[in-house]
Order: sequence, then structure tokens, then C-alpha cells
Amino acid sequence: MGYPEQRPRRLRRTPAVRRLVAETSVEPRHLVLPMFVREGASAPLPIGSMPGVVQHTRDTLRKAAVEAVEAGVGGLMLFGIPERKDARGSQATDPDGVLNVALRDVIGEVGDATVVMADLCLDEFTDHGHCGLLAPDGTVDNDATLEVYAEMALVQASAGAHMLGPSGMMDGQVSVVRRALDEGGYGDVSVLAYAAKYASAFFGPFREAVDSSLQGDRRTYQQDPANAQEALREARLDVEEGADLVMVKPALGYLDLVSAVAANVDVPVAAYNVSGEYSMVEAAAERGWIDREPAILETLTAIRRAGASAVLTYWATEAAHLLRR
Ligand code: PBG
Repeated sequence: MGYPEQRPRRLRRTPAVRRLVAETSVEPRHLVLPMFVREGASAPLPIGSMPGVVQHTRDTLRKAAVEAVEAGVGGLMLFGIPERKDARGSQATDPDGVLNVALRDVIGEVGDATVVMADLCLDEFTDHGHCGLLAPDGTVDNDATLEVYAEMALVQASAGAHMLGPSGMMDGQVSVVRRALDEGGYGDVSVLAYAAKYASAFFGPFREAVDSSLQGDRRTYQQDPANAQEALREARLDVEEGADLVMVKPALGYLDLVSAVAANVDVPVAAYNVSGEYSMVEAAAERGWIDREPAILETLTAIRRAGASAVLTYWATEAAHLLRR
């Protein structure tokens, strides 16, 4: 008789048996590629803190969108960087603003072959870099911001976006966007709510990616990393307000919340593998400190295992190719 009697290693013995019993999979369709488009750019501009990621021109954005679709990615999330920023972020609601033009470009190119999403937030468009309008005392004015978000929703929907991603963490943003869409005749456009978004240092490289002019921080609207309960409340409110999916962001430090939110809501959960999480792996790999491709796939698997249906990741196209190998 052989001891020990329990031998879990039997299920790890060969690649075939490991494949048979794997509980989680990552498929290209689960991945959403965030993309940056810069107004007036004549060549793609590398983002120093995110090796491999660029600010696209309108032209290279279209090409990269097609490549992503050919690789089978589930969605594209577009961010725009305007040439001119002002206190009201007026380029965000201008139909000829860079993000809205880019949405039309990408939809014109890929149509319904993937889900084309638009970031719905003011931080890329304001000269002060905040996600909303400022009151005279310098605080972020929640309700005045909601009016601009409603306007943005209509402009993005009319540009053809399939799904809008309100990411500013203003109270009531999902219901305002939902109502604007319904009243504007865009009842079919869905909402991916950034429900639990934390005031995170891991957004650092993204600030370079969008030429952010933010001074200070976003702690009066993004969540305190110390809190978990609050994430469940935010997710519940967003579902009540009409969110079709809810997101947790960042992903890696917050997998407990991906899991808890997934257990508590009856809509799909997305998680955003943010810029800092990307850059850490890239930087370590560049130094030969980590094996890059396995690290990417392990990262995405962990986020899926925690309960995310969709993963926003700057590796989406490349990972889709790796997964098909
Ligand atoms: C706000 C927004 C941010 C990110 C996505 N949407 C920046 C912020 O909240 O400061 C961060 C994404 C990343 O770090 O990859 N429009």
C-alpha cells in the first residue's frame, strides 16, 4: 500500500491531464484593448513608461484596431488626447473632438466585429486634469459634471460607440448616462460602469499616456484602497442605476474585490489590468528579472480566476496571439 493515500499530484502529471482539469481559461474574447489616440499626431508616439504602447495617430489607430480584431480580442476601449485642453473639457463634447472622430474611424473600420467602447470621463480633456468640472472653491462639482457626462454620452453614442465606460467616479453617473442614452434614442448602447475604482498609484504611467495635467490626487472621488465594503456598495448602486457590466480597477491588488463583486451582482464583471501593472512586468522583463510571456499569461489567468468575465489589458492583442499558439 502506497502512502500518502491522497496524491493530488496525479492531476498534474502530464500536460494533457492538466489541460483536462484546468478550472479557468483565458480566451482572446475575454480581453479588451485600451487604445490611445492623439489629436494632430503624424506618427505614433511611444509612451516612455509603457514600453510597447503608443499614442496613435488616427491612421495607426485604425490599423491597430483591425489587428486586434483579427487576433480575436473581445473589445477596444478608446481614450483621446486633445491638442487643446480647457477648464470645461470642451473637446469631450465636441463631435469633432479627437475621441469622437476616432470612434467614427474605428467603427467605420471594424463595424460590429468587436465591441467598441469609449472612455467617458473629462480628465483627458480638462486643463486641470480632474475627472469633472471644478467649483469656484476648487473642489470637483459632482452634479455639474453629470450634465457634461450626459452630453458626452450622446456624442459618443452618435459617433457609433457600442458601449460607454463612465470612469469618473461621480455619484449618479451611471443613471445620468443611461437616461441620456434612452432619451436620445440610444437604448441599445450599453454601459460598462467603472464601479469600484480606487485612487491608485498604479495609474501612474497612464498619466503620461494621456499627457495628464493633474496636480494633486483624486481622493475625493476615487476610493480609498483601505476599503472593501464600499466597493460592494458602489457596484450595487451602479447595477441599480442600469449598468450592464461593472468594473473593478486596478485588478491585481484588488482581486479580493473582483471576487466579492462577482459574487454579489448579477451582471458580468470586468477588471482593468492597469498601466502600472503592465509597466512593472515590462520593466522587470526588460532587465531579465522575470520571464515576460508566462508572466503576462499568469497575470491574465489570475484576474479571470478571481471572477472577471472581461479583462482590460494593454497586452490584449499580443496575449490573443500567445493564446492561439
Ligand atoms: C480616467 C481613467 C484613468 C485610467 C483609466 N481611465 C486614470 C485615472 O483615473 O487617473 C487609468 C488606466 C490605467 O492606469 O491603465 N479617465
